[in-house]
Parts: sequence; structure tokens; C-alpha cells
Amino acid sequence: MPEKSSTSNAEAVGRLYDRFAAESRDLWPDEAEVPNFGFGEHLHFGYWETPDEDAPLDVAAMRLTDMVIDRLRVDEAHHVLDVGCGIGGPALRTARRTGARVTGITVSESQIEQAKALAQDADLAGRLDFRLADALNMPFRDGSFDAVFALESMMHMPDRPQVLGEIARVLRPGGRVVLTDFFERAPIPEVHRPFVDLLRESSLLSTVRVEDYPSMLRGSGMLFEEIVDISPHTTRRTFIEMSRPWTEWAAAHPEVGLGTALAAGIPAPGLIDVEELGYLLLVAQRP
Ligand SMILES: C[S@@+](CC[C@H](N)C(=O)[O-])C[C@H]1O[C@@H](n2cnc3c(N)ncnc32)[C@H](O)[C@@H]1O
Repeated sequence: MPEKSSTSNAEAVGRLYDRFAAESRDLWPDEAEVPNFGFGEHLHFGYWETPDEDAPLDVAAMRLTDMVIDRLRVDEAHHVLDVGCGIGGPALRTARRTGARVTGITVSESQIEQAKALAQDADLAGRLDFRLADALNMPFRDGSFDAVFALESMMHMPDRPQVLGEIARVLRPGGRVVLTDFFERAPIPEVHRPFVDLLRESSLLSTVRVEDYPSMLRGSGMLFEEIVDISPHTTRRTFIEMSRPWTEWAAAHPEVGLGTALAAGIPAPGLIDVEELGYLLLVAQRP
């Protein structure tokens, strides 16, 4: 039954992020702990102006958050929904930069705790609210929000059309949604497929084809405004940054190759050269 499978998917994703939030152990080949990859408070890919720009992952990730915030066009009179809010970094930044109130939802209880603590520390608890809720079935009345963003969360949701329908429902007429998502720019070549499959399995995510979005949006009743392939600024460099601990470990073990990463369940090193795996930024409006 679809409802049951979507619920269990959300629970599985919640457990995945509970583990991530707790920085608990995944095993590397030498049983070292997987370190925090350096995302900071913004748990998503970075945006670099040029491939070799000298910016760490947390700075580049915050830049992508800012690109999303700029497209929301909100101010202190507005209430924004953050779908899949992580540990609250993007919501906090939205409140800080625009003065808007922000409600964030996630399926991870640990993330809620971290996000609330972050808001408290920043003295922004009055403008921020975080709740445990599934984006496929949101606990909000129709037209509750002036704008919605979903920064790298759609890929965890098995039924994107349903989420887009929910987003359209909770948006007020004229409200905008800004989202990022993974997509296949071209079919994944056989040689890269084991790493892409591992990414899908280990991170519980799915990809779409870019041509799927216009019809999904049409189904939700929203008007398509902007879709940009930002892969050249995001994917390769993020996978390089995420691979850094592996690269350092592998340098001390000259006998290892990418197959070792695959066997250890670590997809990032094998994804650096996968140009077919893309990242998009999309804006739409509820009429
Ligand atoms: C890659 S993280 C991005 C977090 C945050 N947007 C950020 O950029 O820092 C994905 C987020 O999506 C959330 N998520 C995944 N599936 C969800 C669902 N069905 N409902 C609500 N949130 C969900 C996860 O709990 C997690 O917070």
C-alpha cells in the first residue's frame, strides 16, 4: 500500500539522519570513524563559482543556501516553510537574512533537537519552529505559507508529485517554491553505475530526469519559473570534498583502489568523475 511504504521510507530516512546527526560510526576499511565531512550547519552540496575556487565545503554550502533564499523573495512580513530542514542551518540563515518566520520539518528527531538548540543559541527561537513531520503528508492548513523551500530533500521522497502537491496546497496563491534536486543529465555509463547505485542505496535517494519536472509541476498546479543545471558548480567538487578523508586514508594505503571504497560502502570517491549525475535548482509559483 503506498501510504505504508511512504511512511516506512520516511522512517528509514529519519533513522539515517539520526545516525548522521549523532555522528555515529560507519566503518572505513581500517575501522576508523567516518568524520564529519565539513558541511557545517548546511547539510547539502556546495556551490563554487569556479572548479578550483578556494572555498571550503561549509562556505560553499552556505552560498547555495543564499542562492535559494534570494529566490524566495521574502521579508519580515512572511512565513516560510523549510521542507527537510536538516539541523536548521538554512532556516536560521533565512530568518537572519530576511527577517521572515521559518517553520522547518524533518523526519529525524535528532535533527529537531539540534535545530532547536541552534535557534536558541542564535536567539532566534521566536522566529523559528521545527517539527517532526513527513513532507508527503504535512500537518499544515491550506495556504499557510508565503514561500517554501526544499534544499536537497526531494531526492529522499519516493513520490515527488505527491510532495509537490503538498507544497502547492500549503502555499498561498502567488507564493514561491525553490528547490534543489539530483537528476540524471544523461544515462549513467555502466562503469560508473556501481557507485551511483551505492549512493542511492546508502543515502536512500532516487534521481529524476530533468524533463520529469515540468510535468510534475503541471500536475501540482504550479507555474514553472526557473530551472538551472548547476552541476558544474556543485557535484564534482562536493564529491572531492566528501572524499577527502578517504583520499587521505588511501594515500597511506597505496595498494587500495576505488574497488576498496565500493566494498567499504563509500560512494563519493567513485562519483567525482560521474558527469551524468546532475544537480538542479528550480523555482515555481503557485498561481
Ligand atoms: C540532505 S538533508 C538536507 C537538510 C537541509 N535542507 C539542509 O540543506 O541543511 C535532507 C533532509 O531531508 C529530510 N527529509 C527526507 N525525507 C523527508 C520527508 N519525507 N519529510 C520531511 N523531511 C524529509 C531529512 O530528514 C533531512 O533533514
